[in-house]
Amino acid sequence: MIKSNYLSLLLLLSLIHYHHVATFSDDPFVGVNIGTDVSNLLPAPDLVNFLMHQKITHIRLYDPNPDILRALSGTHIHVTISVPNNQLLAIASSNTTATSWIRRNVAAYHPSTRIAAVSLGDEVLSSLPSAAPLLLPALRSLHAALVYSNLHNDVFVSTPHSASVILNPFPPSQAFFNQTLETFILPLLHFLSQTNSPLMLNLYPYYVFMQNRNLVPLENTLFKPLPFSKQMLDPNTLLHYTNLLDAMIDAAYFSMKNLNVTDVTVLVTETGWPSRGDSKEPYATPSNALTYNSNLIKHVLDRSGTPLHPETTSSVYIYELFNEDLRSPPVSEANWGLFYGNATPAYLLRMSGIGSFLASDNANQTYCVVEEDHGVDLKTLQAALDWACGPGRANCSEIQPGESCFQPNNVKNHASYAFDSYYQSQGKSPGSCDFKGVAMITTSDPSHGKCIFPGSKNLTNKTKEVVNTTQSSNAGDNLRFRTFRSMKISAINNILHNYFAAFTILLLFLL
Ligand SMILES: *[C@@H]1O[C@H](CO)[C@@H](O)[C@H](O)[C@H]1NC(C)=O
Ligand SMILES: *[C@@H]1O[C@H](CO)[C@@H](O)[C@H](O)[C@H]1NC(C)=O
Ligand SMILES: *[C@@H]1O[C@H](CO)[C@@H](O)[C@H](O)[C@H]1NC(C)=O
Ligand SMILES: *[C@@H]1O[C@H](CO)[C@@H](O)[C@H](O)[C@H]1NC(C)=O
Ligand SMILES: *[C@@H]1O[C@H](CO)[C@@H](O)[C@H](O)[C@H]1NC(C)=O
Ligand SMILES: *[C@@H]1O[C@H](CO)[C@@H](O)[C@H](O)[C@H]1NC(C)=O
Ligand SMILES: *[C@@H]1O[C@H](CO)[C@@H](O)[C@H](O)[C@H]1NC(C)=O
Ligand SMILES: *[C@@H]1O[C@H](CO)[C@@H](O)[C@H](O)[C@H]1NC(C)=O
Repeated sequence: MIKSNYLSLLLLLSLIHYHHVATFSDDPFVGVNIGTDVSNLLPAPDLVNFLMHQKITHIRLYDPNPDILRALSGTHIHVTISVPNNQLLAIASSNTTATSWIRRNVAAYHPSTRIAAVSLGDEVLSSLPSAAPLLLPALRSLHAALVYSNLHNDVFVSTPHSASVILNPFPPSQAFFNQTLETFILPLLHFLSQTNSPLMLNLYPYYVFMQNRNLVPLENTLFKPLPFSKQMLDPNTLLHYTNLLDAMIDAAYFSMKNLNVTDVTVLVTETGWPSRGDSKEPYATPSNALTYNSNLIKHVLDRSGTPLHPETTSSVYIYELFNEDLRSPPVSEANWGLFYGNATPAYLLRMSGIGSFLASDNANQTYCVVEEDHGVDLKTLQAALDWACGPGRANCSEIQPGESCFQPNNVKNHASYAFDSYYQSQGKSPGSCDFKGVAMITTSDPSHGKCIFPGSKNLTNKTKEVVNTTQSSNAGDNLRFRTFRSMKISAINNILHNYFAAFTILLLFLL
């Protein structure tokens, strides 16, 4: 009895002091999700070294991995830890269980490991609807446990949703939460409002684009600059949307507004783009992935806000840091990472003017290859290749028969290798990548299979210096606790299709 009053008092105090809670509303940040279905995952201390070297300040873990949490001690990296779905029931039904979960996974490390948030479950409302009634009790138990440990000023708790809980998202002003789920969502929003915690959403413009390819321009999805006339116009608000992610975030704000909730901000717990896919996913390419993620980072760090809330920029966690090679098909599932499990880049982000975040060593790494976009005349190409390997003194040994870059055996492939060799040997001076206009500079590593391009050799060595590759071969075994993450593609609602069609028709009508 006394204890319960004490808890209520603390709860009350925590509500009065809610504005002190460390939220994500101040400086928008870009964090990364770290999934660990990786066969050669770095040992925890090396992983943490790597994070610091890449200037990563916020991470989200899919389980409270003790090795990683311990290794993060003293680093100031903000950590969001997740409660797996299979622990929902236990935590929702017992404050004691919640208290011991918080003691074991938060209090045991915090503050030397800076735990900033607990994310409860994985898209429960859409992927495990039968557990929906457990969400709020579990959130309350966890919050009460944080209050009990006096950690509620440092750590908040929320639960990530799939975009599919929001219906009719385009145009954003017509969006609303699925009414069937409203009985769960409304009290949940009140809880978030009272505890000054954000609404966590996993937003994948990639899947929206994939399922509406004839309606949504790729440029819009990749944050590419668009002429005014190609921007999406919301006919009700006359707001112009230059990118799909902002439209999805504003759809969430409009949905909350429909329920009279206006003081909860959106935190994007997952977003990203796969760099490889099977024949059904032709847009899963390194080039699109690097464009999406580079532009996303710039958009957030520039504090661009959204058309509806220019003053509020949602922080985002990129999905994800590593390619998780152990995840089951489709191919794209194993290729959402910025890096391979051994910390070599899957592709290189194109970043400028945003400091050294995710950019150290990589930002200036460029390659010289044959121009992609224009039909290149073979004769000119052959002449350029001959020049590079002759007077230009490019190292062309790897493109000789039997060597690692001989295949595919064609002029274009051989010329790219020779161009890059010449370009690297000239210290990457821009003038050294022209070859009468048939060459271009790229940030995407053109290496393939055993063929490592000259520009990539330097990089690989540099990255290797940073991380400790000792004993990294089977560390993944210890870390593979997670089983609950659903396949991303299943999370997207086909219903978008109809609304997009309506949106486009409106758009045509208005223009
Ligand atoms: C847990 O604690 C909260 C706050 O004191 C209380 O409202 C709730 O009923 C408790 N839950 C259980 C299952 O005991
Ligand atoms: C709304 O949610 C319910 C419960 O999960 C689900 O059965 C239904 O299909 C959803 N409605 C739409 C239009 O997605
Ligand atoms: C929101 O406010 C309006 C106007 O005050 C009211 O009619 C409506 O019932 C409210 N909706 C909810 C979900 O509270
Ligand atoms: C990239 O190059 C520019 C100029 O050459 C330099 O000022 C900048 O510090 C470099 N960035 C990194 C991350 O090395
Ligand atoms: C040319 O490259 C090959 C393989 O990458 C290397 O073994 C050789 O030493 C290089 N030659 C020169 C002259 O740098
Ligand atoms: C990269 O390697 C080339 C030789 O392949 C060398 O000339 C160049 O200086 C190196 N660049 C860096 C940044 O290490
Ligand atoms: C990178 O490392 C490889 C193998 O360790 C070595 O052959 C190569 O010369 C190194 N490249 C540079 C630029 O240091
Ligand atoms: C790398 O690993 C070795 C052996 O396990 C260890 O002694 C060393 O401290 C590690 N280096 C770093 C930078 O973590």
